[in-house]
Amino acid sequence: MSNLVIINANISTPTGNSAVTGTGMSELHHIANGAIIIENGIITYVGPQDEMPSYSPSVEVIDAGGKAVLPGFVDSHTHLIFGGFRADEFEWRLKGDSYMSIMERGGGIQSTVNETRKADVNSLADKARWFIKKMSQMGVTTVEAKSGYGLDLDSELKMLEAIKLTSEAEEDRIRIVSTFLGAHAVPKEYKGRTEEYVNILIEEMIPQVKDKAQFFDIFTEKNVFEIEDSRKLLLAAKAAGMKLKLHADEIVTLGGAELAAEVGAVSADHLLHVSDEGIKRMAAEGVVATLLPLTAFALREPFAPARKFIEAGAAVALATDLNPGSCFSGSIPLTIALACIYMNMSIEETITALTLNGAAACGVADLTGSIEVGKSGDIVILEFDTYKSLPYYVGMNCVNTTIFQGKVVNK
Ligand code: NIG
Ligand code: FE
Repeated sequence: MSNLVIINANISTPTGNSAVTGTGMSELHHIANGAIIIENGIITYVGPQDEMPSYSPSVEVIDAGGKAVLPGFVDSHTHLIFGGFRADEFEWRLKGDSYMSIMERGGGIQSTVNETRKADVNSLADKARWFIKKMSQMGVTTVEAKSGYGLDLDSELKMLEAIKLTSEAEEDRIRIVSTFLGAHAVPKEYKGRTEEYVNILIEEMIPQVKDKAQFFDIFTEKNVFEIEDSRKLLLAAKAAGMKLKLHADEIVTLGGAELAAEVGAVSADHLLHVSDEGIKRMAAEGVVATLLPLTAFALREPFAPARKFIEAGAAVALATDLNPGSCFSGSIPLTIALACIYMNMSIEETITALTLNGAAACGVADLTGSIEVGKSGDIVILEFDTYKSLPYYVGMNCVNTTIFQGKVVNK
């Protein structure tokens, strides 16, 4: 928890302690010639430089030189912990195979499950730390990480332990929010016996993991966990005190968005094939729509209807979905470019989606996601003086400095 002063900053930030919805997403607060004071990791001043209070001469000062300064990015949906790789499947898909047909043949998620079960906890954490360093270079100061490649109690606990080890080892660099995704797939030993696996999740796994992860997540999908099983699992997790997320309407229109609204989920994610009714229900119930353009891009699927969500008054977050299968990328710059170019989000909406709304999707909007007094000193300084250049540099990393809790973690 450090002290730091940033001067000559061209600050732009969303504001508030909760997700910003609809047209509000395009309203950033701007401070030209701004300054920020961070004490013990917490922002104590943000405003015009010529009005800033005095600060100790011993404190470190960064002169941003008029460059654009934004809140640290939040990657609110990743599968950061996994064994093995799936480059072979990627090549099959290039040749026309589909994601679901590979999964139905026992590949896909199950193939990563096989590798993850074999891996020891330290090697899983070490692998994740490589990605954390890359994320930090791209300005990420908060990341969500899911289990979901264990699919039995011991292996899921091992994955949650790997998230904890990674989080402890990188605690000076990044904040990690953990999610239990034991309902990612029906493991091969329960093939054709989904009901039994659902009961094991409810009776054995949820009670053991409920205090080890902040969120419960599920792959609600045709031929994976359909609506009725998903509802049962989500309500059991909710009753155990867990906050809820869903992988919803990713491959087909199934009613995952409507279910997310019904059970009071914090977010529903993917939503490539969401129905108009689902959009309306999510907006009405305040469920954050976490859109993952890199996955649509990598699967050659249509992009999620970001504009429809925003026009319906919903809150949109953007995240990478980094995982070894459907989307092996944690690229923040490419996420920004795809959101602006293909999903028709404005640059301001994209920034809100990757900061405050991502923080809301992770349940930490009171801590981070905006540059405001009382929030953590999680900040990025860009290479140029306007944030407007972000999508223009298509897929190129334009983060000059990443600051986490008032400490420079990447420059
Ligand atoms: O978010 N759709 C399900 N889960 C992941 C993919 C996981 C994998 O392919 O390993 C996703 O796309
Ligand atoms: Fe995912």
